[in-house]
Amino acid sequence: MDAKERSAARKQAVNEAVMRIRAIETAQGVTRRSLEDIKQVLIELAQKKELFPLEDFTNPGGGERKANALYRLHEDDDHRFALYGQMSTEPRQSPPHDHTVWAVVVGMYGEELNKLYDHEDGGVAQKGEVMVEDGAGVALMPEDLHSIHMDAKEPVLNFHMYGLGLEQLHGRRYYRPDTHDWKHYPASAGIQDLPEPA
Ligand SMILES: [Fe+2]
Repeated sequence: MDAKERSAARKQAVNEAVMRIRAIETAQGVTRRSLEDIKQVLIELAQKKELFPLEDFTNPGGGERKANALYRLHEDDDHRFALYGQMSTEPRQSPPHDHTVWAVVVGMYGEELNKLYDHEDGGVAQKGEVMVEDGAGVALMPEDLHSIHMDAKEPVLNFHMYGLGLEQLHGRRYYRPDTHDWKHYPASAGIQDLPEPA
């Protein structure tokens, strides 16, 4: 399979997965149960390693190589059902934050530690953690909190999927433990489509 064939097969596999995910949400709504089903669809998609080789994401299209990049794999015309490939080759972490829409993170290559929190006394209390890696993921309701931690000793490539595209999310909040307050994340920018092979 050359790069063009792979790109076409990848789009088809992504479209089929998104169709299943849309059907799950339509039938069940947004619940912990439906998000687990959505997570399973993404874990299955992540097993198709032949369609998602690391080299297609490390520096697609050439140009300046980024330490962290978010590649759009799918988004409906109304910005719903946004699926991204998140590529990281350098350490990265985030503070505890919510998403305001459902979110599912599924591992493919490398390790992304997700810490999970409860709201407590106006702040947060850690309640658990999940290593997002090949075959594993986390599913988060709109109000759920997580933080992510990567040492990226190996390149990390994960699926991140949201009920609505990250560029549309203006109300996400993160917690600052030093000042014990909540701040808003600006909507994401700098997301790019995965370039077409030449
Ligand atoms: Fe997040």
